[in-house]
Amino acid sequence: MELTLIYENEVLNDKEFFEFIRPYRDALINMQLRIDTFNQDLRHNYKDYPIHNIQQRIKEKSSLEQKLKRNNYPITIESARDHLTDIAGMRVICYFEKDVYTVESLLKKQNDLIIIKESDYIKQPKANGYRSYHIVFGVPVYYSGRTDYFPVEVQIRTLSMDLWASMEHRICYKSNPPIPENVTVDLAEYAKELKNMEISLSKLLKDK
Ligand code: GTP
Ligand code: MG
Repeated sequence: MELTLIYENEVLNDKEFFEFIRPYRDALINMQLRIDTFNQDLRHNYKDYPIHNIQQRIKEKSSLEQKLKRNNYPITIESARDHLTDIAGMRVICYFEKDVYTVESLLKKQNDLIIIKESDYIKQPKANGYRSYHIVFGVPVYYSGRTDYFPVEVQIRTLSMDLWASMEHRICYKSNPPIPENVTVDLAEYAKELKNMEISLSKLLKDK
């Protein structure tokens, strides 16, 4: 017999939610300042600066609730704290693949950050064609008497990887009816074409 858990509360209390995300916001601002700081330096001092733009967001309350529900976790603050590492998220959009690894190594030099989880979907793309570098950092938040670490998910990818991921998300996310096979095949093909185009563009830059 299959058991289905039923949770009485399907939504979090607003006040509790905003209290809960405050330190995640602090960690996100902290992380953004770190990246902005080296980005300014790179922009001013290097011709081949790596970063095109930076985006960040705090997961919306409804999207947090949906994710817990989708994964069959209780819809509570404790469960969000225990199971979700993408409440605070940043996206660093670079020009070329090598730039992604420049940003990765600059972040890893900051030795008060801890690495909670890391996935290189550039070296090993997902079967659908998704490419991106993901690191979940534990960012220290200093209180008066203690230090706590809060997760910030940083996705580092190139403009062409971001184009693909944004389009794929738009086309496939919550698609009803399900995505037909030919669309899946086309998307995987476009991922390869975009990769090749990026390589050709990087050669133009080198030859300049
Ligand atoms: P999530 O539960 O979706 O957060 O996945 P996960 O915990 O297994 O981690 P993963 O590294 O696979 O994905 C984290 C995030 O990367 C997702 O929330 C998306 O923002 C992005 N992502 C991962 N896979 C895909 C994909 O196939 N397409 C798109 N568009 N984005 C993806
Ligand atoms: Mg996510």
